[in-house]
Amino acid sequence: KRRGENIEVAEPRNKLPGPAPSMPTDPALYSGPFPFYRRPSELGCFSLDAQRQYHGDAQALRYYSPPPTNGQGPNFDLRDGYPDRYQPRDEEIREGLDHLLRWLLDHRGQLEGGPGWLAGAIVTWRGHLTKLLTTPYERQEGWQLAASPFQGTLYLSEVETPAARAQRLARPPLLRELMYMGYKFEQYMCADKPGSSPDPSGEVNTNVAFCSVLRSRLGNHPLLFSGEVDCIDPQAPSTQPPTCYVELKTSKEMHSPGQWRSFYRHKLLKWWAQSFLLGIPNVVAGFRNPEGFICSLKTFPTMEMFEYVRNDRDGWNPSVCMNFCAAFLSFAQNTVVQDDPRLVYLFSWEPGSPVTVSKHQDAPYAFLPTWYVEAVTQ
Ligand code: A3P
Ligand code: MG
Ligand code: MG
Repeated sequence: KRRGENIEVAEPRNKLPGPAPSMPTDPALYSGPFPFYRRPSELGCFSLDAQRQYHGDAQALRYYSPPPTNGQGPNFDLRDGYPDRYQPRDEEIREGLDHLLRWLLDHRGQLEGGPGWLAGAIVTWRGHLTKLLTTPYERQEGWQLAASPFQGTLYLSEVETPAARAQRLARPPLLRELMYMGYKFEQYMCADKPGSSPDPSGEVNTNVAFCSVLRSRLGNHPLLFSGEVDCIDPQAPSTQPPTCYVELKTSKEMHSPGQWRSFYRHKLLKWWAQSFLLGIPNVVAGFRNPEGFICSLKTFPTMEMFEYVRNDRDGWNPSVCMNFCAAFLSFAQNTVVQDDPRLVYLFSWEPGSPVTVSKHQDAPYAFLPTWYVEAVTQ
């Protein structure tokens, strides 16, 4: 045998049969009427504690507690406590869908929607859906989504791209501090109990999280997803989640119309996508000055965010976001034909290119844990 002969004829293991499928992301292709999106309803929740341990309850939920409006504005020092009172989560630990699967395992017997609802549904994190929604307008960061089909359900879990990993490992000190400041703002705005006041003297531990689990549907795609929720407003007009939840955000103080325009075009899109998916009605923004102090607050109702860019030729359009997401979910469902939790269809996207797919088996891409697959296979 000649050397190299086998290499010449070997089919790449991750090649899909037929022509290479791909999916364009240009906004112009996804305009058209807003698709059906079922009002998200909360199925349950879970909490992650200071050690990142799972609890099937709302122990990590915090209560919205804005400062009194007595003439003066707020004066929150977001850099206070950095880095000595900061316990950042270990970002090297790849959790995948594990916490959500734990919740699902504990509750799959009580799911509404009738028998077989879960088979046919898409299970994922809200954050992954947010990335899909903003894709037609994203010009900087690509993504990779791993899809595994198991018992009719399609599980979607993000894979950190090599570029994102390199960026994270080389994160400049100023960006690290900026990340801390986002969480510090939450501490100034939230209390541990309803009716009590925030206590900014403690540590900021980003292992702690409260997650809501919701059911919705986009077009004909039933969805079960979970998203982190910053706090609940005990004084909200409706006490029913998710409409009593509040999303907190920080942003740079703006001074010129050009700065506001750019904020509406870029940041508001991300804020809208994140909160709209989960059904959170209001985003409370704190604006920080160059010294890192929050001196003003502004509430942005999620349903009014589009108004800021409706007449902007370089703005975003919620219909484009939702139509693209629906088209991607159909594309994923059509690509994934064989039902096998060890199979992974890896969807990859870089700005300026279409979404492409490759097929993989087992490590390193398979992400459905054995404990989940075995428990569900019984
Ligand atoms: P801000 O976005 O308010 O600055 P969330 O707003 O989703 O509840 O996230 C809370 C904070 O986590 C953010 O606060 C930010 O500090 C940090 N954070 C979230 N996503 C991030 C990302 N992709 N990159 C860097 N920091 C992030
Ligand atoms: Mg949050
Ligand atoms: Mg927030």
